[in-house]
Amino acid sequence: MQNIDTGKYGILYVDDEPDNLTVFKAAFRRHYNIYLANSAKEGMAVLNQSDIQLIITDQRMPEISGLEFLKTAVKKHPKIIRMILTGYSDIDVVIRSINQGRIYRYVTKPWDKNELKMIIDNALETYSLKNENRVLLKNLKKANLKLEEYSADLEQKVIERTHVLEKNMALLEREIIERKKAEQAIRESEKAAAAANESKSKFLARISHDMRTPISAILGFTELMQVKFVEEKFQIYLDAISSSGETLLSLVNDVLDISRIEAGKLTLEYSYVDLRAIFNDIKQIFLWKVKDKGLNLKIEIDETMPSKIILDEARLRQILFNLLGNAFKFTENGFIKLAVIKCDRHTSSDDYLDYVISVQDSGCGIPKSQQKKIFGEYAQQKGRYKEKQSGTGLGLAITKDLVELMGCQITLTSTVGMGSDFRIYLANRTELPESVD
Ligand SMILES: Nc1ncnc2c1ncn2[C@@H]1O[C@H](COP(=O)(O)OP(=O)(O)OP(=O)(O)O)[C@@H](O)[C@H]1O
Ligand SMILES: [Mg+2]
Repeated sequence: MQNIDTGKYGILYVDDEPDNLTVFKAAFRRHYNIYLANSAKEGMAVLNQSDIQLIITDQRMPEISGLEFLKTAVKKHPKIIRMILTGYSDIDVVIRSINQGRIYRYVTKPWDKNELKMIIDNALETYSLKNENRVLLKNLKKANLKLEEYSADLEQKVIERTHVLEKNMALLEREIIERKKAEQAIRESEKAAAAANESKSKFLARISHDMRTPISAILGFTELMQVKFVEEKFQIYLDAISSSGETLLSLVNDVLDISRIEAGKLTLEYSYVDLRAIFNDIKQIFLWKVKDKGLNLKIEIDETMPSKIILDEARLRQILFNLLGNAFKFTENGFIKLAVIKCDRHTSSDDYLDYVISVQDSGCGIPKSQQKKIFGEYAQQKGRYKEKQSGTGLGLAITKDLVELMGCQITLTSTVGMGSDFRIYLANRTELPESVD
């Protein structure tokens, strides 16, 4: 390496001839840091103390020869470049120097200054390159070592990760199997539930159907007895039997309908129906209730309403009975209005007519929070008007199902204390369906 202060390489020149030493120094001191020694021994001492990159030694010296000196030097300072100065006759020495002192070059005496300068520069360049190589090699080894460490580390990480992955895969596989099992179980229980529901509906349908016959018999005989037993005491008993029988029959009918609808067994029978005629019938039937409660029953039909529309008449009557029955049940004074109103199309499609049937009352009304619920089965208003809730809460559920089965829609607007308005948007049916289940 060059001297840090001078920026020059250090050269040790060993020669027993003082003149030679002087000449060498004079020739090269401008270019290099020149160290001189007049014997191998002194040379060794200088080597140990100074920063030297190149040794040039004379071969022929008393006591220790140049070659011997270099052999010792190479052991202690292997990185320093070595050169030997010999006469032409010393070819043997040169060969030995190359082998034993591992010299870079030999120079024959007398030397030419320029030629020697070139040789020295080459030698120093070799030194510098070797040195750089050594540094590079060292760095390379270091990097290699690091790489090996990383690679070992990486390998370990890959092994660990693979292990974790394998474990997760196994878990995932187990999870998938469990899920599949659970899905299968759900499917099976759904199937079982559907089957159970169907048998429940079938059972209900049969039992309620079978119950209607004996109830009708009870009602028939009660009617007969009402004619025969005129005594007031019996009349009271018979009225009670008759009214309970009627309630029971309507309940059985409701249960029958619900179970038929649930089992998908309700058959609709479409025909051309005359709403005006039906409304008149209904008015007659409810007249006694109107008188009984002192209410005003209004019937209104828009003049433009077609005379006939396609509906299931019996089911339409059932719907209107349910809605009007409720209206009478939950209205103490004021009015009840059954109307056909012309309205804009309910939707932009052709699914609905421009007419709605409205059943309106001035009764107790239904709070917003319960307006959806009351269309469910066995749903009645919570808390309020308990005493009036003589029914079972099936009426509106059946009504909604029937309305929707006919392709119509039911809506409710109601204000507590003001009254309610149930509206049926009529389906736009232009042809009689052949048969609808
Ligand atoms: N016009 C109305 N005014 C106020 N509340 C009503 C009206 N119609 C229905 N409701 C409320 O909705 C509930 C459900 O009505 P729904 O007709 O289904 O049953 P219900 O009349 O109680 O019994 P059911 O009709 O089975 O004999 C009623 O109990 C009542 O609380
Ligand atoms: Mg009802």
